[in-house]
Amino acid sequence: MTLGEALDAATDYLASHGVERPRLDAELLLSRSLGLTRLDLYTQHDRPLTAAERDAAREPVRRRGAREPLAYVLGDWGFRRLTLRTDRRALVPRPETEVVVDRCLALLAGVAEPRVLDVGTGTGAIALSLAQELPGATAVATDASADALALARENAEVLGLRVELREGDLIAGAAGPFDLVVSNPPYVEAAELPALEPEVREWEPRAALVDEGQTARLVDAGRAVLDGWLVLEVHEGRADEVAGWMRDAGYTDVAVSSDLAGRPRVVEGRWPAP
Ligand SMILES: C[S@@+](CC[C@H](N)C(=O)[O-])C[C@H]1O[C@@H](n2cnc3c(N)ncnc32)[C@H](O)[C@@H]1O
Repeated sequence: MTLGEALDAATDYLASHGVERPRLDAELLLSRSLGLTRLDLYTQHDRPLTAAERDAAREPVRRRGAREPLAYVLGDWGFRRLTLRTDRRALVPRPETEVVVDRCLALLAGVAEPRVLDVGTGTGAIALSLAQELPGATAVATDASADALALARENAEVLGLRVELREGDLIAGAAGPFDLVVSNPPYVEAAELPALEPEVREWEPRAALVDEGQTARLVDAGRAVLDGWLVLEVHEGRADEVAGWMRDAGYTDVAVSSDLAGRPRVVEGRWPAP
């Protein structure tokens, strides 16, 4: 079998298992498992695969065909300027969450040495991005999942970034005041789960997905540690509702911003009033 034939066979296999972008995923999986670039797959398409190469390529393609997220099969994923380790211990960081970090950076502009808290850090995506992009910042991150925190710790070590990690519920005893508390809490409604792609509903941690009231509790709890901004990623159908909770709780300057697809996705507010 040549490289070109292997690429076609992997593409067909992934397509027959319902993978959304089978060609792209086949390219990424084969190039990674064979130590090639995606361009090499085409410039060397007539080259026969060695037996070792066939073995190396088979398992990643099988895993992706079982609808395991591409990020878990590859073992890493890009988020803003970072490459993060990714596996079943935590949610795959999403592009819309990059917009949450943009809002944090905008709100912290002019704060020399901001103290920031990321609640429910997962891979560490938000906290590590803030630590990297705001070199004067002190970053604290929490998660209720020991597994997720272990992955965040690995990412912090590999990237050489400093984030204090705390296991526990919401703010998990982190000492304020913080200039900014940010969170991408679980916000899928349990009834929505069956309609989600298998990559999400069968592979990503349920505790990272399903809303158990964390957003509402964080609007309340944030006030105990804030001297600045609360920034929340929210369900696209609930931005106005969450903004209302924040106003009712006494936050000021409450505003909603949209993700790159134009969906209302980020709610921010200030506590206490300036
Ligand atoms: C939607 S994921 C977000 C992960 C990461 N911040 C990101 O944006 O990719 C939500 C995270 O919150 C954590 N979590 C759920 N309930 C929590 C709670 N009560 N306190 C702290 N963390 C919680 C989950 O374990 C999960 O890692």
